[in-house]
Amino acid sequence: MHSAFAAAPAGSAIPITFTTKATWETVRAGLGDQARQFALANGFAAKPGACLVLPTADGKIAEVLFGLDEEAGKFCDPFRPGQLPGLLPAGVYRFANDPHDRRLATLAFALGSYRFNHYRKADVPEVRLVAPEGVDIIGISRMAEAATLARDLINTPSNDMGPEQLAQAAQHLAERFGASFNCIVGDDLIGQNFPLIHAVGMASPRTPRLIDLSWGDPAHPKVTLVGKGVCFDTGGLDLKPSAGMLIMKKDMGGAANVLALAQMVMDAKLKLRLRVLIPAVENAVGGNAFRPLDVFTSRKGITVEIGNTDAEGRLVLADALALACEEKPDLLVDMGTLTGAARVALGPDLPPFYTNDETLALDLARCSRKENDPLWRLPLWPAYDAWLESKTADVNNAPSGTFAGSITCALFLQRFVENAKSWLHVDIYGWTPSAKPARPEGGECQAARAIFALLGERYG
Ligand code: BES
Ligand code: MN
Ligand code: ZN
Repeated sequence: MHSAFAAAPAGSAIPITFTTKATWETVRAGLGDQARQFALANGFAAKPGACLVLPTADGKIAEVLFGLDEEAGKFCDPFRPGQLPGLLPAGVYRFANDPHDRRLATLAFALGSYRFNHYRKADVPEVRLVAPEGVDIIGISRMAEAATLARDLINTPSNDMGPEQLAQAAQHLAERFGASFNCIVGDDLIGQNFPLIHAVGMASPRTPRLIDLSWGDPAHPKVTLVGKGVCFDTGGLDLKPSAGMLIMKKDMGGAANVLALAQMVMDAKLKLRLRVLIPAVENAVGGNAFRPLDVFTSRKGITVEIGNTDAEGRLVLADALALACEEKPDLLVDMGTLTGAARVALGPDLPPFYTNDETLALDLARCSRKENDPLWRLPLWPAYDAWLESKTADVNNAPSGTFAGSITCALFLQRFVENAKSWLHVDIYGWTPSAKPARPEGGECQAARAIFALLGERYG
């Protein structure tokens, strides 16, 4: 069970009463005289996120009032109760009535308890929730723990989260679940034909590597996850300006999220053969860095001209996708923090996904809504593929113009995908720029819960 949850008997826990503006009249009428007076004196207005702790006569905590979004309002956030761990004093609590969605509210409570305090001493009050009746607390804990893994990996500063440490995290996960683990490091990437992963990673003293984890019965359907593991993205010789470089420790967010997804899959023992591939590199600057207009022959044999060393994520993914396709997976999923353009189009909270599998697109959109893990489909628009043309090689890694940057990145990756029954690409942000309910500022788990729900439906 996740540490935000308590096994204590519900009777002794402090009740949290949810209210909206619309239900406040009724909720207020149900309070005792003293509590009603206290709420009035404190100007409790039942606004979303409003929290009032009501005292007993002898000054202890009697109960809590918490305002939810209007059910019929423009935006009703089912994660609103995720604010509670940050607002409440230490204690064990329970839901006295139902929030809009009991399961998502419970999940939000756990997600909202997350703090990244590995590098400082912080007194965080222990705020716990007794699992509400009828929610699958094991399943919710599984999701919240996976989110913690992704967030911790992303939040860890790059000096402590290089390619080697990322590989260690993957190895740790493999050992925990009895998965097999392999890693191809440094010049072996050349020997074993991963030229693009090597090219991007070679300027860093922290050697590039390809992480390869396998788990499950080989007779089961093959699901392969590929995650962009750029442990820091300076942009390379096409150096990023400081504002753009500032949060590039998060550029291994795709890797963090596929590891989170893998953890859920293995913990739930889904009936699939899982493989996780993570090209882990640092896109650094140096005399031996790859350069604009260099040409490399990729693993797949496609020659790639470097239009921009800052479009490095698609390069390392290209070789990993090519490897993934060599065993003809049933489902191939890749995730990465690939383009600023995805943020321009949809903002930080709504990652675009791409697939030509219509059933998968519908199923994923449904799971995304069910899990409140937002995703939005964008098209693999065939006409824009021409924008990737190179005068020298088969393809250029950066399109000639600046339009539709997330789409052209997806189209670049598509060229390296062959023989996968179904392919899904997600261009995530992996970061919450300013705190929202259940989503503290910093590294974020995106798309993993939605995809896990989909895999659970298919292979549960
Ligand atoms: N890691 C970045 C993408 C990114 C930037 C994600 C900012 C989130 C926030 C990626 O490697 C990159 O630099 N992409 C370039 C591609 C361009 C050079 C074609 C971009 O988006 O500008
Ligand atoms: Mn880049
Ligand atoms: Zn990058």
